[in-house]
Amino acid sequence: MTSLDDLDTPCVVVDLDVLERNVSRMAARAHAAGVRLRPHAKTHKVPEVGRLQLAAGAAGISLAKTGEAEVFAEAGFDDIFLAYPIVGAGKGRRLLALADRVRLAVGVDSVEGATSVGAVFHAAGRRLDVLLKMDCGYHRVGVPPAEAATTARRIAELPGVALRGIFTHAGHAYLATAPADVAAIARQEGEILAAAADLLRSEGLTVEEVSVGSTPTARVAMSVAGVTECRPGNYVYHDASQVSLGTCAIEDCAMTVIATVISVPAADRAVLDCGSKTLSSDALRPRAGGHGWILGRESRLDRLSEEHGVVRVAAGETFRVGEKVRVLPNHACVVSNLHDRVVLARGERVEGEWSVAARGRVR
Ligand SMILES: Cc1ncc(COP(=O)(O)O)c(C=O)c1O
Repeated sequence: MTSLDDLDTPCVVVDLDVLERNVSRMAARAHAAGVRLRPHAKTHKVPEVGRLQLAAGAAGISLAKTGEAEVFAEAGFDDIFLAYPIVGAGKGRRLLALADRVRLAVGVDSVEGATSVGAVFHAAGRRLDVLLKMDCGYHRVGVPPAEAATTARRIAELPGVALRGIFTHAGHAYLATAPADVAAIARQEGEILAAAADLLRSEGLTVEEVSVGSTPTARVAMSVAGVTECRPGNYVYHDASQVSLGTCAIEDCAMTVIATVISVPAADRAVLDCGSKTLSSDALRPRAGGHGWILGRESRLDRLSEEHGVVRVAAGETFRVGEKVRVLPNHACVVSNLHDRVVLARGERVEGEWSVAARGRVR
């Protein structure tokens, strides 16, 4: 039997007991709320995890990139939503090939973008399902609520596309510092979309899907009347940001990085073999504060360079060269994108590994 202690480092480990519990809890929540669950698989990029999500009742998966959809389609996934504004004839041609074997939909937030992919489908005598992205306060992409009806109408009239619904992502919840603020953002996320769906329907447009979703807002947003679908992603693994937001406890975090102490140059400083190439440079949310938590210790990863993780050693703690520690990353989704494989464990026992098949598929 291989144990975690035998692994070469740095090494990303996924605890299967925690993963399975996270998957079934979110599935149960969606079931109880009466909404379809369409998890965002960009968090894990692993077909085997997607299959666990489908087996627990997910209706399909969400992804961001066309290349990610190609990998999951190849792995047999047949209902995929690209929750991202897809633009350009090049993407349109790749999507046309995918649409032969997958129930496919993509995000749009402009007439220009929808026209560019729709033209390819129209030329082939086909239609691509699209969901209009709405801005519910994150102010990243998406049309503001006041423009939703006008933009939706113009998109619905385009050749080569069919409006399936609307969607949003309340990414600003990650900056809320109190649980009550996260809950208020979540309610708003659901209510803005439900109101927009009513408005669009009153104008004669078909709105089959009203899709919300992020891990911190999922529980509240999916329970708003009128919401039909939820797309949380991070919940499968969770991370230090979810713990500091209050979304979950440390025991709910399935992904950790095992690292080795490679140097202890001073009593207050130890250095691990995991830097930004392993953990990414993503900040802790909602407030920046180091680069990962060392489980069981007060000491924190204070700064990263590419291959070095510098620990500020807390008073009363010591580290020794050669010792292995477990780091809880700030942001699990970006860690997935940096690694070819994740090692699977139950407790201290290694059970195998999975290929992160869609990592790096940024196009
Ligand atoms: C459009 C969209 N939907 C869903 C998600 C999933 O959110 P989370 O990772 O908070 O679960 C994301 C994450 O960035 C997203 O961008």
